[in-house]
Amino acid sequence: MARRTSIGLDIGCSAVRAAELSFTATGVVLERSAEAPLPEGAVVDGEVVDVAAVSAVLVQLWRTGRFSSRRVTLGIANQRVVVREVEVPKMPAADLRKALPFQVQDVLPMPVESAVMDFHPLEVRTTGSGQVVRGLLVAAWRDAVAALVAAAEGARLIPEAVDLTAFAVLRAVGSDVHGETTTEALVDIGATITQVVVHSGGAPRFVRILMAGGNDITDALVERTGVTVLEAEHLKRGLGIGDGLNGELTVVGHAVEAAALGFLEEVRSTIDYAAATSGHRAERVVLTGGGARLDGLAPRLAAMTGLPVDIGSVSHRLRPGRNLRPTDDAATMAIGLALGVSA
Ligand SMILES: Nc1ncnc2c1ncn2[C@@H]1O[C@H](COP(=O)(O)OP(=O)(O)OP(=O)(O)O)[C@@H](O)[C@H]1O
Ligand SMILES: [Mg+2]
Repeated sequence: MARRTSIGLDIGCSAVRAAELSFTATGVVLERSAEAPLPEGAVVDGEVVDVAAVSAVLVQLWRTGRFSSRRVTLGIANQRVVVREVEVPKMPAADLRKALPFQVQDVLPMPVESAVMDFHPLEVRTTGSGQVVRGLLVAAWRDAVAALVAAAEGARLIPEAVDLTAFAVLRAVGSDVHGETTTEALVDIGATITQVVVHSGGAPRFVRILMAGGNDITDALVERTGVTVLEAEHLKRGLGIGDGLNGELTVVGHAVEAAALGFLEEVRSTIDYAAATSGHRAERVVLTGGGARLDGLAPRLAAMTGLPVDIGSVSHRLRPGRNLRPTDDAATMAIGLALGVSA
């Protein structure tokens, strides 16, 4: 039997990561995953700035990763992508594809001809003027998508789809317990981007891309103490944040604490805002991304939100196998992107 495989490619600010899955009768298997660091400035705030530099790293990634195909699903998240809740009249999918630009042009922050759009239906409602579909509209600037695609094509890869990485996080770590609809806030803390997805039993209710991440804490340390970025990164990882109760903090400890608190407050208020606007209040928080590894961050967010905060894992989506190592945490997003094709 021919095995169906799929490769997700996550182009982050600090690194590129790819994961290849195969879909077998007994479950989804992680066949391969690989990661390669990006040079500074190649991807800035989630946008591919230096196409050639990213392509060069992807060539390297495919050389070391030994993936079985060049077909990939790409992920996108940056400030030139927006997610809005909209309502459109119910119609066949093919008609909607054509009508969508006209239906949503008023809520788009960009001219309709500069946008690439996608619509994720959530529910059908009956109103006085007929049936409407409420859903999430994803709209990205065309040139931001083009740069991402160009970087992949420059490495002779074949992008088959571009997906919002927030949806990849949802597929990878969102729990969808049968018969039970838990509302969760999934928070992926990257280098410069943090994504908040609130979902109920697997259905996304709210998505927000915050232009903040783990690097803000490192940058604050550099600014405050004058150490190099490398030293600041090292200091940050060694220190973490405390419970806020120890009065005597060093200058460094204080800088980490203050930056982390500012960031966590933004996450907390986003979760609150999601509850107020979508009507779905999170009962727990699940963290992914490198920024979530900061020592003490999860308990501090738990104290601030009054919610349990856990670190997300993709392992329950996969058939246990020798390929999944604890270090594959970094591949969570790439795995989520690859999972999209089976949906
Ligand atoms: N052990 C650790 N302790 C604290 N912070 C860490 C740790 N490991 C990684 N980080 C932080 O995680 C961030 C990188 O996370 P990640 O690798 O998820 O980002 P990315 O996917 O490359 O970027 P983005 O998602 O913003 O495009 C950096 O800010 C880094 O300092
Ligand atoms: Mg990331």
